[in-house]
Amino acid sequence: MYDFDKIVDRTNTNSLKYDLREFFFKDKDVIPLWVADMDFETPIFIREAIQKRAEHPIYGYSIKPDSYFHSITNWLKKRFSWDVIKEDVLFSPGVVPGFTLAIMAYTQPGDKIVTQPPVYFPFFQSVEDNGRELLYNQLIEKDNYYTIDFEDLETKLSDPKTKILLISSPHNPVGRVWNKEELEQMVTLCKKHDVLMLTDEIHSDLVFKGHQHLPTASISEDAKDLCITFMAPSKTFNMAGLSTSFLVIQNEELKKKYEDVLQAYHLGLGNVFGNEALEAAYTHGEEWLEKLNEYLTSNTNYVFDFLENNIPEINFLKPEATYLLWLNCKQLGLKEKELQKFFIKEAGLGLNNGSIFGPGGNGYMRMNIACPLSTVKTALDQLLKAIELFRKEKK
Ligand SMILES: Cc1ncc(COP(=O)(O)O)c(C=O)c1O
Repeated sequence: MYDFDKIVDRTNTNSLKYDLREFFFKDKDVIPLWVADMDFETPIFIREAIQKRAEHPIYGYSIKPDSYFHSITNWLKKRFSWDVIKEDVLFSPGVVPGFTLAIMAYTQPGDKIVTQPPVYFPFFQSVEDNGRELLYNQLIEKDNYYTIDFEDLETKLSDPKTKILLISSPHNPVGRVWNKEELEQMVTLCKKHDVLMLTDEIHSDLVFKGHQHLPTASISEDAKDLCITFMAPSKTFNMAGLSTSFLVIQNEELKKKYEDVLQAYHLGLGNVFGNEALEAAYTHGEEWLEKLNEYLTSNTNYVFDFLENNIPEINFLKPEATYLLWLNCKQLGLKEKELQKFFIKEAGLGLNNGSIFGPGGNGYMRMNIACPLSTVKTALDQLLKAIELFRKEKK
């Protein structure tokens, strides 16, 4: 059912990660360890569901049957002990479009939205490109471990113009799974200052041993009332190209406001293959996901040991969730542009530059390890060669 070691050639498939290397890195041969999709085959039970539907010769407008919603609510119950009713689940063509529509639904131009950088950069675009103002509640870093600056958060939330706190949970790129106390504190502050929480939980299935994801909305009645939760099978099952995600809104008034905007943009229908894929993923996906998380953990461990033994100038803390490693490269002493150039030109690797994740991102590179171990090994060998040369030149 799974062979995560298998190399699948993705070139010339219109893959953003592979076929835009020339455009982004000015080098079509870098090993692509950037965009957050995986080099593993989308699981067979999803491909079969799509193939079965594709055999019917008409791909007209499609609706979502009860079984589609039940697959979601069962998944939420099983994985997170979260009770959600079908009526509170809404479709979105993506998590980013989802929280962008929520911003349109709940704020006016000029209103303020708090984010916690370094963080997934479309958060910034979604706010600023729509005429809203960003406030940064920068995370605190100590020995590569990140926590929330609650004092600063309260200051930002108490601004009367602040309407939304937009969080990444688990957090991309720093890999934290926010714990109950942290979530409670955020909810308490949002309630106190009458601010809504948009919680992007797209990485909630990719959580490693010793950690448990808690949907923020599930932790209390207050949370349920002020949270909009965004989730998707896209990262988990490598089906981002199907543009299928969902959100949960359990407050009737907020749900109505969101539905009005969704209606206005006519975005609620989705696509025929995405519907089939989502249902297959959540119905059959648990065992595959367990194996995936084991594989990701062992890739992470490999990178960790390799860097510790060979390249201590680059280090990271093992993420609690996500297949994204947040590499601290500060000891190399390179300026932002030089660091990018070093990874691309000297090491032949295409990673995301930390600086795009906003304040706190300089000096970091984000590495996607959702690929066969052999690819990770080749990448690290290339990195080591480049570092050895770099050390010599520095002497
Ligand atoms: C935190 C986070 N949110 C959203 C997305 C993308 O969501 P979508 O493709 O559904 O818009 C990503 C993709 O990397 C992500 O990391």
